[in-house]
Amino acid sequence: MAEATSIKILKCFAIVLVLTVTCAYSQEPEFVYPDVFNDPERDAFLYGTFPEGFVWSSATSSYQIEGAWDEDGKGKSIWDTWTHEGGHVKNDDTGDVACDSYHKIKEDVSILKEMGLHHYRFSFSWPRILPDGTINNINEKGVEYYSNLIDALLEADIKPMVTLFHWDLPQALDDFGGWTNESIVGLFNDYANLCFERYGSRVKFWITFNEPWIVSLLGYGAGTWPPGITEPGTTVYIVTHNIIKSHAKAWHTYDDNYRESQDGLIGITLNSDHMEPFNMSKPDDIVAADRVLQFQLGWFAHPIYINGDYPQIMKENIAYKSAMQNYSQSRLPEFTAEEKLYIKGTGDFFGLNHYTTTYAVTSLTDTDEASYWTDQNIASWKDEAWPKSGSDWLQVVPWGLRHLVNWIDNEYGGIPIYVTENGVSTHDVYELDDVIRQKYYRSYINELLKAITIDNCNVKGYTAWSLMDNFEWASGYSERFGIHYVDFNDDERKRIPKKSAETYAKIVADNGFPSSGGMRSIGCVQLTILAVGLSLLSSVGLMV
Ligand SMILES: *[C@@H]1O[C@H](CO)[C@@H](O)[C@H](O)[C@H]1NC(C)=O
Ligand SMILES: *[C@@H]1O[C@H](CO)[C@@H](O)[C@H](O)[C@H]1NC(C)=O
Ligand SMILES: *[C@@H]1O[C@H](CO)[C@@H](O)[C@H](O)[C@H]1NC(C)=O
Repeated sequence: MAEATSIKILKCFAIVLVLTVTCAYSQEPEFVYPDVFNDPERDAFLYGTFPEGFVWSSATSSYQIEGAWDEDGKGKSIWDTWTHEGGHVKNDDTGDVACDSYHKIKEDVSILKEMGLHHYRFSFSWPRILPDGTINNINEKGVEYYSNLIDALLEADIKPMVTLFHWDLPQALDDFGGWTNESIVGLFNDYANLCFERYGSRVKFWITFNEPWIVSLLGYGAGTWPPGITEPGTTVYIVTHNIIKSHAKAWHTYDDNYRESQDGLIGITLNSDHMEPFNMSKPDDIVAADRVLQFQLGWFAHPIYINGDYPQIMKENIAYKSAMQNYSQSRLPEFTAEEKLYIKGTGDFFGLNHYTTTYAVTSLTDTDEASYWTDQNIASWKDEAWPKSGSDWLQVVPWGLRHLVNWIDNEYGGIPIYVTENGVSTHDVYELDDVIRQKYYRSYINELLKAITIDNCNVKGYTAWSLMDNFEWASGYSERFGIHYVDFNDDERKRIPKKSAETYAKIVADNGFPSSGGMRSIGCVQLTILAVGLSLLSSVGLMV
């Protein structure tokens, strides 16, 4: 009798075990975009949390939000000139008022606080602090604005992450050639030094440049942004050369004179689409995608994080094409041996701004036209099936973020990565239940979680672009990236949270996606408890 009972008990437990395991494994994978991205290996939603101390932030930039373009002694920036000239920006919109953040420190801090964020990424306007770009003339009112903002943030337990240059170059410096003039290296360093001196005891996270690729390519290549120069084969390379030197000098200034007493981090923020080889079975497509990433990210990151010099493929391609085009030397400038040593290692972290993904294949373009674009020998395009947004250039491809983070982690030897921008636009409509943005954040942040927990990439932080709708450069106010809605016809510029602000705040509060959220796993637990209960009852019954 006793023997038969224990066998029955064993059988019961075996049934419970089989039930539980079957239940756990029969769970259908969940997808954020079931109609487009539904590969169970690649796209299945991953429950789990981010490492302790992971940085959650949201971002803005000075020209896009501040307004007060000529108030309290601020100098003109090239964006003031450009927007006032007319004909360059959709609807001739300007940043004259924007979100009026110059007068709304309290409001901006309070929406961050309401979301439970402990970091805020914003930028200093160089001409607000130095109206003519030089330290010969410091605008103390401008210095004070940022000082007040920083104090208000710290008071609310929010750590400032400051970008020194987010595109609003003092017009006075552009009058001397802007980034084409090497003397800007020293002037940028003076500006950076002043900022470290005035704010460095309170600011522990510095970004020298935001997306310098955009400065070079749109400002001096395509000419669609100020200063509107169209020299994509030559000047873009000179501009980047000077920006890299400027970055390195500011980094050394911090490292030599401030790091010990202020103990912060200083790096640069680079932007890139993920480049996906069109056909993973074709080695040449893989090489092509890698080549674009070298031209886009490596152009800046290879000197800074690897060896003080440009990627080999850039040096080869540009030298070859320059010779074909009868240039007496390569259009890509060279760093001296001394400069290479000076530039190498000048980044405490890698700031990544990422939004979308593009396919790449090789396309030989032995053209007579000297251009950064033809120098790459690439054809690229996006997939029609990928979900669209409010911006032509931005389609939703969550897994691209994971792939790109892996590429960076691998290429730059595990340098700490902070995603310093990520987000999606909608058209200019009043819409608070922004489903597209809620899904975008959920899916992209989930892919970042995979990069960390499955792929072991060294990612330290994430930043949602943008805290609020703002002036979207050449698109004016026609494209909205905010997790807060701003009515630009309302003098008050009231900030109203969209649903995505709630979505993001929840992810931040949970530090990711704790697994308890899934209905199916709750079902499994209940089923298991029921089975255990029944088996216990039945064994007790048998015992009596
Ligand atoms: C470069 O800038 C300096 C001032 O910083 C100016 O004196 C010089 O003329 C400029 N060079 C050119 C070519 O504009
Ligand atoms: C991808 O490349 C492989 C190998 O060249 C080829 O067999 C396959 O047809 C290609 N797939 C597509 C979708 O082009
Ligand atoms: C370069 O020079 C060669 C020889 O003078 C000439 O045939 C060729 O057309 C030139 N190419 C360009 C792009 O100017």
